[in-house]
Amino acid sequence: MKKINIGILGFGTVGGGTYDILIKNRELIERRTGCSYEIKKILVRNPERLKAHGVDSSLATDSARDIIEGDDIDLVVEAIGGTEPATDWMLTALKNGKSVVTPNKAAVAANLHKLKAAAKEGGAEIRIEACVGGGIPALTAITEALSGNEFSEVLGIVNGTTNYILTKMGDEGLPYDEVLKDAQAKGFAEADPTADVEGIDCANKLSILMSLSFDKYVAPEDIPTEGITNISMEDLQRAKEKGCKIKLISKAALDESGHLSYEVKPMELPKSHPLCGVDSEFNAIYITGDAVGEVMFYGKGAGALPTGSAVVGDIISIMKKL
Ligand SMILES: NC(=O)c1ccc[n+]([C@@H]2O[C@H](COP(=O)([O-])OP(=O)(O)OC[C@H]3O[C@@H](n4cnc5c(N)ncnc54)[C@H](OP(=O)(O)O)[C@@H]3O)[C@@H](O)[C@H]2O)c1
Repeated sequence: MKKINIGILGFGTVGGGTYDILIKNRELIERRTGCSYEIKKILVRNPERLKAHGVDSSLATDSARDIIEGDDIDLVVEAIGGTEPATDWMLTALKNGKSVVTPNKAAVAANLHKLKAAAKEGGAEIRIEACVGGGIPALTAITEALSGNEFSEVLGIVNGTTNYILTKMGDEGLPYDEVLKDAQAKGFAEADPTADVEGIDCANKLSILMSLSFDKYVAPEDIPTEGITNISMEDLQRAKEKGCKIKLISKAALDESGHLSYEVKPMELPKSHPLCGVDSEFNAIYITGDAVGEVMFYGKGAGALPTGSAVVGDIISIMKKL
C-alpha cells in the first residue's frame, strides 16, 4: 500500500474540519484510494488550536518551509486564507512536486494561471473544489462529469452570508443591521463582512466558475459587482408582492455570437425559478449545458465539515492517481 504524507498550512475552520474528516474516515478513505496516509506536519501560529482536535503537539510547526519544501511531504492542504503568503507557498509547494488542495478562492481567483503553470512545472496537481460552494461538488462536476457540454449559462448563489441576510430581511422583515449582527453571532458572517456584503467574495467565485465553464479567465476586479448593502426593505417587499425574491446572483452567460457577459448583482427571481427556493446560508449553482440541459447543485456552502468534505474529496482524487 502506497503511503502519502500530508502537510496542512493553517488550522482554523477548514484546516481543522479537514483534519477531523481525515482522522474519522481513515478506514474508508484508505480502502477507496488503496493508499495509507499520515498527517505529518501542521503549520499553526497558536499551538492551542491543535488541542481542540486532539492533535499531538509534535505535529506542529511554525515554519511553512517544513511543509512546502519538506522532503517528507507529498501533499499540501493550504488553508490559511488571503492571497499572500498563501499563493507564494502554494507555488513553492507545486514547483517542488507536491500537489496542493485549497479552499482559498481569493488566492485561486487572482492566480489560477500561475498555480496551474507551477503544477505543470512540478509534475503536481492543484485542486480547488472547496473554493466555490463549500461542500457542493460543482467544480468537479463542471470539469469532469459535465465536461462534454458547451455551457450557455452559469448562475450561482455562492455566498451564504448574504443569502442568510436577504432571507431574514425578506421573510421576517428584520432590518439589515440587526440581521448582520445575528449572522455574525451565529458564525455565518465575518467580523469584517465587507468581502461578503459588497459582492467581492462572489466575484472571486464567479471568476473561478467562468475559468472552468467557459475556459475564459476574467479577473475578479474586472467583473461588474454590486453587493447587497443598497437593498432596502421596500425593495424586498415589492419583490414579495410580485411573487419574487431578491437574491445575490453571480451570473455568466454566453450568447449565440460567442460573447460572454458576467456580473454579480442582486436580482429578482420568480418563485418558479429553482434558485428562488435556496434560502438562508445555503448555496446553489445552476448551470445550463447544451447536452445535459439544466442542472442544479445545492447544499452547504461553508462550515468546517462541509468545506472539509470538498477538501478531502480533492485529497482522495489526488491519492488515487499517486
Ligand atoms: N470557513 C469556511 O466555511 C470556508 C468555506 C469555503 C472556503 N473557505 C476558505 O478557506 C480558507 C481558510 O478559511 P477558514 O475559515 O478556515 O479561516 P480561519 O478559521 O481564519 O483559519 C485560518 C487559519 O490560518 C492561520 N493563518 C493565517 N495566516 C497564517 C500565517 N501566515 N501563518 C500561519 N498560520 C496562518 C490562522 O491562524 P490564527 O489562528 O493565528 O489566526 C488560522 O488558524 C480561506 O481562504 C477561506 O476563504 C472557508
